[in-house]
Amino acid sequence: MAKKTLADLPDLTGKRVLVRVDFNVPQDADGNVTNDRRIRGALPTLTALLDRGASLIVMSHLGRPTGDAAKDKPFQMDKVAARLGELLGRKVHKVDEVVGPKATAAAQALKPGEVLVLENVRFHPGEQAKDRAVKAAFAAEIAALGDAYVCDAFGTAHRADATMAAVPAAMKGKPRVVGLLVQKELDVLDKLLSSPNRPLVGILGGGKVSDKILFIKALLQKTDKVLIGGAMSYTLMKAAGRAIGKSRCEEDRLAEAREILALGGDKVQLPVDHLVVAALDKPETAKVVEGDIPDGLLGVDIGPKTIALYQAEVRKAGTVLWNGPLGKFEDEPYSKGTRAIGETMAGADKVITVVGGGETAEAAEEYGLAEKMTHVSTGGGAFLEYVQGAAFPALVEIDDK
Ligand code: 3PG
Ligand code: MG
Repeated sequence: MAKKTLADLPDLTGKRVLVRVDFNVPQDADGNVTNDRRIRGALPTLTALLDRGASLIVMSHLGRPTGDAAKDKPFQMDKVAARLGELLGRKVHKVDEVVGPKATAAAQALKPGEVLVLENVRFHPGEQAKDRAVKAAFAAEIAALGDAYVCDAFGTAHRADATMAAVPAAMKGKPRVVGLLVQKELDVLDKLLSSPNRPLVGILGGGKVSDKILFIKALLQKTDKVLIGGAMSYTLMKAAGRAIGKSRCEEDRLAEAREILALGGDKVQLPVDHLVVAALDKPETAKVVEGDIPDGLLGVDIGPKTIALYQAEVRKAGTVLWNGPLGKFEDEPYSKGTRAIGETMAGADKVITVVGGGETAEAAEEYGLAEKMTHVSTGGGAFLEYVQGAAFPALVEIDDK
């Protein structure tokens, strides 16, 4: 169902808007932001609201805090708030509390055009409380801070956390809309799932079949072709009765892999050749083998014939949906397949190219390809679940058009 957007909000002059974003960004051990893509993704919404005279109370989770203050220190929102300030080009206030007197005072002191970032919402036990009353009591405290609610946290849309679902529920009667990022994510994915330009080609990589069983099944139903790469291709090859040498394989998932092959039939394309090595740390032993993988060797990337085959499929596609690296791409000598397929997608001007979040999005960015894709999702788990047809509790609480 179509959801209300920023365009449906009333005059915001002097209003306080609660904005739930997903600033759960990659960090180093000291908590420094190592990739700010998700922060940049929310800027259009934040800027649009500020330009309309609102002040903003920005809330997000960061990481998975344990409740141990020392261990959780890197998950404090200070560095994220500082990066947001740099990107927005304005002062961003940060309060060391999610709810309470300090947070309320800071929210009430906001003037039009000012931004306040609350502390990591997962520092408060209410955010993920199992007890609905506890969650609702926490949500009511946050809800009281704002005149309107904007959900721009696509990456968290598959979670029923308090700031995603209970806060907008507590704000019934006040405007509750999706932001520009969520709107774009939903527009792209809805089109892709309901009436894609065909052929719709899925490119699927990554380490494990087990992480993505439901996603693969959904892809097999919706796409015209699924091109497989990454370590999951060895599990699928083995399930098909092929030799894989000492390549990585999920032995306990062979039955599911067989089921996928049976379901997919001709739609599933496994690699026809492989880059193999004698050991992961011996890139100097790398060579290309066709078909099966001989004893004593392990696959680390798709081979040149597979690259050419997949590139041809991308070029003649109407839409390409890519999730998961095609080789062990974090090691440069094994990154050729991932890079080549990414480059071909980025260069295919007439093809709608959509990249799923997480490490695929990071690869696309690292290779400088992200801007040339139709869309790079900010969702990892949320992206996979949306393609699988999950209903998001967070969206239920947003006003319908
Ligand atoms: C994500 O990165 O997947 C989202 O921010 C949700 O985080 P979570 O998996 O810890 O709930
Ligand atoms: Mg996750």
